Amino acid sequence: MSGPPDYDHPDVVLCPGGPMLIRGAKTVQDADGRVHASVRPVVALCRCTRSARLPFCDGTHKLLPVDDRP
Ligand code: FES
Repeated sequence: MSGPPDYDHPDVVLCPGGPMLIRGAKTVQDADGRVHASVRPVVALCRCTRSARLPFCDGTHKLLPVDDRP
């Protein structure tokens, strides 16, 4: 994963116990169908469902017991 974002082929990285990183996404659609514009080259999407900023990760996963992390 280097160089400018390729918006036609975003890169996805699953962080153990943490978020899903997506590089090169223009938009993110949440579970309710709302579309969020991505203004950053890399977005971190919550996989633990505890974030106060869903669908984005806010770091709350770090406070969870290890067994409750994604
Ligand atoms: S994965 Fe980070 S808050 Fe859910």
